[in-house]
Amino acid sequence: MNDPHGGRLVYNVLSDQERERIMAQQEEFQKVTIRDELVKDVKNIGFGIYSPLTGFLHEEGFESVVDCMRLPNELAWSIPIVLDIDTKIENDEILLVDTAGKIIALMKVEDHYTYDKRHFVKNVFGTEDTKHPGVSDIYTMNDILIGGEIQLIDREKAPFYEYNLDPKETRVLFKELGWETVVAFQTRNPPHRGHEYLQKVALEIVDGLFINPVIGKKKSGDFKDEVILHAYQILMDQYFPKGRAIMSILPTKMRYAGPREAIFHAVVRKNFGCTHFIVGRDHAGVGNYYGTYDAQKIFDMFDYQELEITPLKFEHVGYCAKCGGYVSMKTCPHEKMPPSGTKIRETVREKKIPPKELMRREVAEYIISIENPFVIK
Ligand code: ADX
Repeated sequence: MNDPHGGRLVYNVLSDQERERIMAQQEEFQKVTIRDELVKDVKNIGFGIYSPLTGFLHEEGFESVVDCMRLPNELAWSIPIVLDIDTKIENDEILLVDTAGKIIALMKVEDHYTYDKRHFVKNVFGTEDTKHPGVSDIYTMNDILIGGEIQLIDREKAPFYEYNLDPKETRVLFKELGWETVVAFQTRNPPHRGHEYLQKVALEIVDGLFINPVIGKKKSGDFKDEVILHAYQILMDQYFPKGRAIMSILPTKMRYAGPREAIFHAVVRKNFGCTHFIVGRDHAGVGNYYGTYDAQKIFDMFDYQELEITPLKFEHVGYCAKCGGYVSMKTCPHEKMPPSGTKIRETVREKKIPPKELMRREVAEYIISIENPFVIK
């Protein structure tokens, strides 16, 4: 199993005693309401998914991540984890609350700063184009960021508590399963046969597979969270040997930041204890903003010692009728049919079953049984 990024697993969760003290004194604190997606980030910090971050980035950290893909202590970190606010902060300790008014965390506000959104998106997303869903998200943010440590008050595992393990828990589970080497699979889709092929090729060389779908805000037309999870459960039950694959979610939004997001995805999976990470074609990409293998090439900018998780880089895989199975340019000279997400979406939208070479029938039947399996905005 791998050590957490930076060597120590963060667990910023208040003790019961501290929690009760703060709850009893809550009227003395300023309450700042944060969006659902920020609640997920707060929990990810508290539970150590974003180790070594113990809070939202200060200005120095923000600039260093945006400009150099590193934290001020030089540790690799590619996506800024920031908290934007639209209220004036009156004290240096505040309570972060969700939109329903539930208290989520205590935050020590150590820094307030403004930032240049164009510079942010240019460096992190490689484009200023507001048609890019990650970029347009940044442009809707408030103009002030606050930095500082958080301590979780609300420990509820939401959403999907049955698939919502934190790194402390995955590390215990991997140990119990006897997995020394674990490959993580990032996804924002229900499984097609190409995904399954990558996972099974990786499983030939490691002890276990950690299927870790991103659950959170996605763009219109992407599959709904619950559809992704249920579809994977069907695949795991029917097509994977018991005890070789587990699924748990990564509660965060998709950024569609391609290469930078691939580094972030890998580091986060290292915190769960994974030793390997699958990076295929156009990982975390959208439209034509990134080259097919840019998200693989970016790993060459770091030494193994800096990331300490091995990227398993896969060529574009597809089905070859002549070979009768999944292949890539590396393994087969014939023409192949790539498992196009667009084709799958179009077919299920018409309530038809995609060809068996693209998707397992049981998975497809489930998806078309759902009235509308897609995110609509
Ligand atoms: S992503 O936004 O999470 O990257 P998706 O869920 O489609 O999208 O992909 C999950 C992983 O599978 C990514 O690493 C992606 O690069 C890889 N992948 C998806 N389809 C293919 C394919 N046909 N060939 C190679 N890799 C693929």
